[in-house]
Order: sequence, then structure tokens, then C-alpha cells
Amino acid sequence: MGTTKKITVPQLLSRKHKGRKIVMVTAYDATFARLVDQGGADMVLVGDSLGMVVQGHDNTLPVTLDDIVYHCRAVSRGLARAHLCADMPFMSYKISAEQALASAARVVQDGRAESVKLEGGVEIAETVSRLVRAGIPVVGHVGLTPQSVHALGGFRMQGRTGFDRERLIEDARAVADAGAFCLVLESMPLELAQAITDEVSVPTIGIGAGPHCDGQVLVIYDLLGLDESFSPRFLKRYAHLGASVREAVASYADEVRRSAFPGPEHSTSVADGEPGDGGLYGGANKDVSH
Ligand code: KIV
Repeated sequence: MGTTKKITVPQLLSRKHKGRKIVMVTAYDATFARLVDQGGADMVLVGDSLGMVVQGHDNTLPVTLDDIVYHCRAVSRGLARAHLCADMPFMSYKISAEQALASAARVVQDGRAESVKLEGGVEIAETVSRLVRAGIPVVGHVGLTPQSVHALGGFRMQGRTGFDRERLIEDARAVADAGAFCLVLESMPLELAQAITDEVSVPTIGIGAGPHCDGQVLVIYDLLGLDESFSPRFLKRYAHLGASVREAVASYADEVRRSAFPGPEHSTSVADGEPGDGGLYGGANKDVSH
């Protein structure tokens, strides 16, 4: 994809000391990957949130390794600059370090991910260390860990009590010490996220964790306002595409029903002859179908 240079793991790590915030966003297909790359995202996450926003499940648990690999390959084709990180899905890395190595190898080799993200703290530190020693960059994820939704009793903010707060600081420290090159901090009080950010030497990337993290991440469908019914306090919508999509489809439906589309400008007559060299899509692809 041209000569644009990819953002590297050492460059992301150095952002903490330079005080330059990291911008992370999710993507699940090549079209959105291209758009968020062009929009200036530093890291693109193929999140297991795809189980909810793409597949329509209530949580992320049904997502499989095959799903992640499939979406990751698609996203990789759309990226020129941003670093590509992929979620390790539920139970693809917690059975043993060997299982984690085999799962991560698939995500990197077949999915073309440049790093993998694992949810958990002290209990996965040894696994993180094994992956890092095998040359696979790891992103940690502490706080609200959606793969533990049943154990946590729902998608709840974490770290509100003194005990929880200490546990989360210990988790973050363990994963960072094991070699993770950055940490996602999800749904915790901003004071706790600040304490973790001050404590660890690697960048923190927050979602629902306040402004003191070294970067921020949002799910692209949320950022674009595709689902108006999802409005947690932490979310800022930068567009209202849900309404735009409905309006566009309603206009299309109306024009089709009134036979107003396609008009002459969208139709080809035998008298028009062959399209130019660029073909119907202005490129090498002369096929008329998607
Ligand atoms: O799955 C996901 O999209 C995530 C982000 C919200 C951090 O884990």
C-alpha cells in the first residue's frame, strides 16, 4: 500500500516518554480499516467486540479464533500506517501457555496481526512472558474484562473499592512486568487509571478510564453513532451515522419505488459504446459485480 511507513511497537512504546497520546480504534473490515487509517489512527484493534457489533451477540464470548483471523486479514488489507492489534478471543489463551502460543501464532501468521491483546492480570503474566519471548508483541487489558462478564456480574465499572483498586494495580504491574508493550484500561475511576498510568513504564490506553491515560480507544461503531441505543457515560459520538444510514436507505427505497432510480445518468445504452480504459469502476477491475 504505497510507501507509507507502518507504526512500530518501539515507536508506540516511546510515545509515553514523549507525552504523545496514542489513538486506537477498532475496525472489522477493509473499508473501515482504510478509513480509520486515513483518519490518523495509530493502532487499529480487531476487537472481540465484533461479537456484539458485527455478529449481534449479547457479549463477546461466542467469538472464535477463526472469526478473529478472518476479520484481521480483511483489516490488514486496508491499513497503510496504523499498527494492527488483534484480540485473542475467549478461552483461546487461558488453558495453557502452549495453547496461547499456538493461538497467537495463527492470529499473527494467518491474520497478519502485529500484536495480540489478552484480557487478565496476575494469572496470565507467565503466558504474556512466553508470548513476548517468542517475539509476539502483547497488549494487556485490565479493569472491566468483558470475557469475564459472568464472573463480574455484568459490564460493570471496576476498581471502586480499596481492595479492587489494589488488585487492579497489581494486575497492571504484573502484565507490564511480563513484557506487554501497552495496557488497555477499561471502565475504572479516572483516579485509578491515573495511578496505573503513573505506576507502569508502558503506555496505557483507556476506554471509560478518564483523561490521564497515555492514549484512548473506542469501538468504531460507537464513535460513529451507528447504535443510538448504546450511550454509556464514557462514549462521545463524533458522528451520527445511524440516522444517516436510515435516511439514505429510506431515500433509496423511495426512489426505487417511484422508478426515479436508476435514471439515465446511471444507465448505459448500447449506443454509449464501450467504457473507457478505466472500466466501470475506473480501475483495472472490469467486472460489473461486487
Ligand atoms: O473488543 C474490543 O473492542 C476491546 C476494546 C473496547 C478495548 O477490547
